[in-house]
Amino acid sequence: MWLPAIVSAVHLTCLALGTAVLLLRARSLAGPLVVEADFKRVLALDNASGIIALLWMGSGFYRAFSTLEKGSAFYTSSPLFWVKMGLLGVGWCFEMPTMLTLLRWRKELATDSLPDTKNVDRLRRLHHFELAAMVGVVFAASLMARGIGRAAPPGAPEVRTGAKIYAQHCATCHQPDGRGMNGKLAADFVGDKTRLAKPDTVLLNSIQNGVPNTAMMAFSSQLNEDERKLVLAYVRETFAGK
Ligand code: HEC
Repeated sequence: MWLPAIVSAVHLTCLALGTAVLLLRARSLAGPLVVEADFKRVLALDNASGIIALLWMGSGFYRAFSTLEKGSAFYTSSPLFWVKMGLLGVGWCFEMPTMLTLLRWRKELATDSLPDTKNVDRLRRLHHFELAAMVGVVFAASLMARGIGRAAPPGAPEVRTGAKIYAQHCATCHQPDGRGMNGKLAADFVGDKTRLAKPDTVLLNSIQNGVPNTAMMAFSSQLNEDERKLVLAYVRETFAGK
């Protein structure tokens, strides 16, 4: 209860802080880079961005690949999750040159020489691409959280389609609670245990051909064989043993 909320808060906070620190690091690269303190300022911001990146990705992967929240299938089944991971990879590619350059700076400063700054303009421009990739990650994450692009909701997909068919074709008589107004309107799947005690073949036959001289009509023309099986599976799953 608490842990998922905290991990989620850490994840989002890192995003906000990370964006700010990247902007500051880009600005610090714009100079002036003359005395040692100037370089140290860039490196301090680089340290901060490194820590935030670790926390950001750590909390993200923890959420995605532990049982903390929705389970990894929720994420990996969504194409947007892979878009998000792709954008993360792209962001890392843009980060690489800066990371390598600043590592070199650290070494050079340690030997008391001032690093050369010939490629800082390029590094600064790369920051913009990196930020754009991060914005893309945020969009992908928001769309994913709304379930956009997800092929099938988690859980047994058959039961869900059955639920749709039931709502559309059967619920008017059998009612959403399966009781058919205590059997007055239609067979009561909950109260009359003899109904669902019948084997599939019998019940599928009733659904396909109807029950003569009753309101239970034939669905042979409206539902194909698969759909009739799906809706019966839903009826059993939902109302048997209630
Ligand atoms: C117009 C009303 C109506 C609709 C719509 C309807 N039913 Fe029925 N259904 C009935 C009635 C009435 C009975 C009881 C028939 C009887 O006396 O055996 C019944 C009985 C049944 C039975 C039990 C049959 C048996 O052999 O005992 C099943 C299973 C069933 N319905 C499934 C469905 C499904 C699935 C749908 C939707 C695809 C559906 N019904 C739609 C009225 C309806």
